[in-house]
Amino acid sequence: MYSEKVMDHFQNPRNVGEIEDASGVGTVGNAKCGDIMRIFLDIDEKGIIRDVKFKTFGCGAAVATSSMATELVKGKTIREAMQVTNKAVMEALDGLPPVKVHCSLLAEEAIHAALWDYAEKNGITIEGLERPKSDIGEHEEEQEY
Ligand code: FES
Repeated sequence: MYSEKVMDHFQNPRNVGEIEDASGVGTVGNAKCGDIMRIFLDIDEKGIIRDVKFKTFGCGAAVATSSMATELVKGKTIREAMQVTNKAVMEALDGLPPVKVHCSLLAEEAIHAALWDYAEKNGITIEGLERPKSDIGEHEEEQEY
């Protein structure tokens, strides 16, 4: 049911962890399955994503898509990171079963939420970036998981 790449990224996820004093942090969740994903970005003064880490409390596909998404944005510019859509992540993983497509969407949303946080902190606008719909970072304490 899963591609070898999905299994590999699920079993050996890349970039797991946190970044202290991250340039941007995005936390998103899916209300239906209850899975949560958090992405930390370290962005240098030239706007290059120097480092990225993630923490995912969720299904195997969510872990694999977060892992692949972090690999795809690492070392990239913000503009390039904006091209890392859920479709790009799925393609890089050689596909996902239809019921797992929403997991890859979570990865895209988490990156966007982290970029949004970075933009807000620095008072800049990132072209094409919209306020994250499901950023739950600020209300975390109020939610029960
Ligand atoms: Fe919801 Fe995978 S089942 S993120």
